[in-house]
Formats: sequence, structure tokens, C-alpha cells
Amino acid sequence: MQLEKNINILLLGSSKGLGKVLYELFKKNKYEVVGVSRTVSAQTDFICDLSDKNQVLKLIKDISITTIPQYIIFNAGKGSSNKETLEERREELMNHNFYTSKHFVEEIKVDPFWTDNLKGLTFINSICALENFKCSEEYKYAKKELLNYCRKISNELITKKIRVNSILPGNIMHENSIWNEKFESKEDEVNFVEKTMPFDEWIYPEDVFKTIEFLVHNQNVVNTEIILDGGQNLISPN
Ligand SMILES: NC(=O)c1ccc[n+]([C@@H]2O[C@H](COP(=O)([O-])OP(=O)(O)OC[C@H]3O[C@@H](n4cnc5c(N)ncnc54)[C@H](OP(=O)(O)O)[C@@H]3O)[C@@H](O)[C@H]2O)c1
Repeated sequence: MQLEKNINILLLGSSKGLGKVLYELFKKNKYEVVGVSRTVSAQTDFICDLSDKNQVLKLIKDISITTIPQYIIFNAGKGSSNKETLEERREELMNHNFYTSKHFVEEIKVDPFWTDNLKGLTFINSICALENFKCSEEYKYAKKELLNYCRKISNELITKKIRVNSILPGNIMHENSIWNEKFESKEDEVNFVEKTMPFDEWIYPEDVFKTIEFLVHNQNVVNTEIILDGGQNLISPN
């Protein structure tokens, strides 16, 4: 079946990592894509710190002038913090994993320009939001808040015919992945993957892209949380 590609995608968190590859895949597959991040990159159309409410207000105005998004992919996030105390780490990770989404949604959900055109919101979460999966307390806290928020707004937005879904990936390998820094040799990496991933393979940005496409093109999928981890959460709960 030929998928309709003439769709406007807004990608929040597009300058590097997963977001950078997603941006390029959207383009390659003939979607209209607009990217947002804090730093300049070939994949950044609008600069904005999404954790700053005032910058988000300006961004929403600026985007409205040039494009009418139909799907928004909330990808901005950060896996760890170097701050000293748990409180500081929690604050930083809440800002980058939760408020980067919440500030944006709270503004657009009451704006008919956005709600009349939007068809779906997809949130890139993590298996760290799952109860049984162990990871740093501050990252788990932020991603769980995000998951709960998605469940809440899914109920609100379905009355406007906007579908909200989440993707919970396991370990993603990409060019600036934190995983690249963790291994001294290819053998170390292979051992780690065999130990943690049941199918002996990383999750790749292309896997996330295919899952986003599935969500975009399936009108019946609403308030769903897709665990995209190759079973990682089943074999390495701690
Ligand atoms: N990597 C993994 O193994 C993994 C696994 C599961 C889930 N995830 C999730 O997948 C998403 C992407 O992860 P990644 O590994 O690609 O991370 P990454 O390489 O650090 O990229 C994060 C992206 O988000 C943007 N961003 C972060 N904070 C922002 C802010 N306040 N305002 C605007 N943009 C912001 C960054 O751009 P700027 O720095 O230019 O702003 C960058 O484009 C995150 O939500 C992460 O939690 C990752």
C-alpha cells in the first residue's frame, strides 16, 4: 500500500542523535518536516529552548506563520545530568524530558489554529518509564511524569480528534549515542548487547522511524504506549 506522504511533521529535538536521523528520514521519505532545537544544525529550522516557557510562546507564533503541523514528534530529552544533588539532577531532567513537551502542549491545545489542523502527537519516552526497569531515579521520575501526562492529554485531545501515543525505546545506537563512549572495544560492545538485548541487537533510529510511520498512518491507534526495546525490559530489569 502506498502511504500518503504529503504530511506536515514538526519534530521537537532535531539537531542530533535520534532526532537528527529522524529529520533526515522524514525528508528522504518525502514528508514535510520542520525541526526545532537549541543549537544550530542542518536539521534545525527554529532555535528554541523548549524548557523555557517564554521561548516556547514565541516559537509557537513563529511556526504558525510558516507552517501548519499535522503531527508533532516530541523527541527533546536528556538521559543524564552531572549536577551534584539528586534535587538538582531531577530538576534538570524534568526540564529537558518533561517541560520541553508540557509547555508546548499546554499552549497549542487551546489554540484552534493548532487543534483544527493537528491529527496526532507522538512522544518519544523510554523504557525507563516502566515500573520494572531500573535506571537512574531522576531520569525515571521525569519519563514517568511524561507518560502520565500523555495519558491525561490523550483523553482531553481525543475530543478534538487528535491522537496521542508514546514510543518507549530501549537502548538506541546512533552517531552521538552515549553508548559509543561506554565500550573500549567492539568485543565489549558485543558482550554488552548480548547480555542486555534478547535479539543481540541495538534499537536503531530507523526502528523508531518505522514505528512513528505506523502511528501516523493508523487512525485507530490512540493512547497507546509502544515498547520498542526488543524485549530488553524483560531480561534486564535491574
Ligand atoms: N539514546 C537512547 O538510548 C534512548 C533510549 C530511550 C529513549 N531515548 C529518548 O529519545 C530522545 C532522543 O534521545 P537522543 O539519544 O537522541 O538524545 P540526544 O542525542 O541528546 O539528542 C537530544 C535532542 O533533543 C534536543 N533538546 C534537548 N533538550 C532540549 C531543549 N530544552 N530544547 C530544545 N531541544 C532540546 C537536542 O538538541 P539541542 O541540544 O541542540 O537543543 C537534541 O536534538 C530523548 O527523549 C531520550 O530520552 C533515548
